[in-house]
Order: sequence, then structure tokens, then C-alpha cells
Amino acid sequence: MKPATDRTITWDEEAGCLRFIEQTLLPERYEIVRTTEVERLATAIRRLEVRGAPALGVAGAYGVALSARSHAGTGYDEFMESVRRDAAMLNATRPTAVNLGWGIDRVLGALSGEETPEAAARRALEEARAIEEEDVRLCHAIGDHGAALLPDRCTVLTHCNAGALACVEWGTALGVVRSAVAMGKEIKVISCETRPLNQGSRLTAFELARDGIGVETITDSTAAYLMRKKVIDTVIVGADRITRDAVFNKIGTYMHAVCACHHDIPFYVAAPYSTLDLQRSEDDITVEERAREELAECGGRKLMPDGVRARNYAFDATPLDLVTAIITEQGAGKP
Ligand code: MRU
Repeated sequence: MKPATDRTITWDEEAGCLRFIEQTLLPERYEIVRTTEVERLATAIRRLEVRGAPALGVAGAYGVALSARSHAGTGYDEFMESVRRDAAMLNATRPTAVNLGWGIDRVLGALSGEETPEAAARRALEEARAIEEEDVRLCHAIGDHGAALLPDRCTVLTHCNAGALACVEWGTALGVVRSAVAMGKEIKVISCETRPLNQGSRLTAFELARDGIGVETITDSTAAYLMRKKVIDTVIVGADRITRDAVFNKIGTYMHAVCACHHDIPFYVAAPYSTLDLQRSEDDITVEERAREELAECGGRKLMPDGVRARNYAFDATPLDLVTAIITEQGAGKP
């Protein structure tokens, strides 16, 4: 298998298209998708081919840029109407991660200042590329701030994938791990499999093993037991949205926070400032509910009897009082 040294999502200048890693195929197959179609990108977001809050911010930004390029031949009013329609379509693909709308709005804001569709399309692409580069810088800053909090030897529990594959490269929670390893600390990661789509066992384990960082996978329900047995020193997760009272992240995060608090284990959330949504509170946010089939079937086998309803929430909310510190590009602090 080819190592995933590519950026998760990036602009291919030579080919004049967007390219991203198709994450639903990992770890069995490593494939790059190239597209100039905003609809193809929207499908990729819905299917989780591109996923993780910071990567969704970059994807939203490039989605608007692709739309602007494809409508650049039309009159100004028609152009703006088409781009806004595509932006709304992209924004509706996944409701919980705030970064998606943030990236879309930032590029819409940038292109609106231009006088012709052609200039607006150029400006949109420039802004999307700037957001991509920024993500790399921010993740390194988050990593460095977070790594300073870790002891020289420790075992970190993480949930879902808040790594290079959830960002452009490096990662947020796994960025902290990478920075700590780069500083010479001895870090071992325990990755929860993260049912039902297994971003932990498929993606976190994949990217850490690829980089030679020690990783073991557990079922989600093993975490509490390992905390009680003092195997886990620290929990670090990413975030899809941080409201003024809660951290939204992959379903199961809240359960780890409660257990960590009970066992007096630090519980850190690593995320860029673009994930903060402090005007809103938990009750304002829509938690994505996904298809029954994700729970009811696996590898062509039925896992549930017909007729039984599934509650397949993609995210949960952890109250801030369970969070030891939020690690951003500006430093780490008590929420
Ligand atoms: O459904 P996903 O795979 O998009 O969920 C991703 C997560 O929950 C991540 O932990 C979160 O986006 C932070 S990524 C740095």
C-alpha cells in the first residue's frame, strides 16, 4: 500500500482540480479522488470520503471555489445566485461541524468583493488555498501547545480520528501526539474503534502506524476498564463544534469524559479557533443522525432484526465542566 503522505485535501495546480484522499476505502485501499465538480465534493462530504471538522472547513472553502470556477462564464447576478445556491447545498451536507459553514462563508465573503465573475472565481480559489495553508500552521501550533502539557512518557486515549486525515495534515488531537513525539516524548496511543464507522480503528490506527507511532485499538466499551486499571494517563479528542456550554464531538466522547473525570484523568479537547461557536449553546445545535444501515449491517451481514429502529447519532455533547483544558492555536486553557 502506498503511504498516505499526500495532504488529505489540496488543490492540484498542475491538473487544475481538487484532490482528496477517499477515506471510506481505508485501510484496505488508498485512493485519491480528483474533481472539478462541486456536486462530487458534496457527495464526498455526505459519504465521509472527506470528514473531520477542519478538513470539512477546507472542503467547504474549495466547494465554493469549484462552484465559482464553473459559473464564471455567466453574467454577474446569475453567477452570484448560482454560487450562493451551491454554497447552501454544500452547507446542508452535514449539520454538526461548524467548520464546514465557516469555510464556505469565508470564501463567499472573499469573492463578493470582486466586480466580475472571473475575478471572483480567482479570488475564491486564492482564499480556499489560504485556508488550506492556515490549517497546516494552526495544527502545528495546537500540537506544540498540547505537547507541552504531556508528561515525558504517557499513554493517550483518543476517540474517532482527529488526525492528519481529519485536517490537511498533522491533526489536532493527533497533532498533539505528533508534536510530543517530535519533542522526544514517549507516547503510546490507545485508539477507540469508534463505532459504527470505525474512524478510530480504520483511520487513527492507519495514520499512526504509518508514522511509526505506537498505537493499539480497543472497542469503545473497553475505555472505562483501562482507565480503572490505570493504563490511560490522558484523554485527548478533537471537536466538531464548541458552544458556550459544550463540546460536540464523535458519539462516545461524552462517555469517555465522564469516565476520565471519575478516574481523575485529564480530558483535553484540541481544536482550532474556527471550531468555536460561542454565540450558541448546546440546545441550538442539530446533532447529525445517520442511516439505520450503518448499525444494521456490516460486511453484507445483518446485525439487527428487521423492523427494529436504530438511533444512530453521529455526535454527542460533553459539558465544559468535564473538560480539563481546550487546546487551540493560541494556547491551552480551562474552558
Ligand atoms: O463523522 P466524522 O468522521 O466527520 O467525525 C469526526 C470527529 O468527530 C472528529 O473527532 C472531529 O471532527 C475533530 S477532527 C480534528
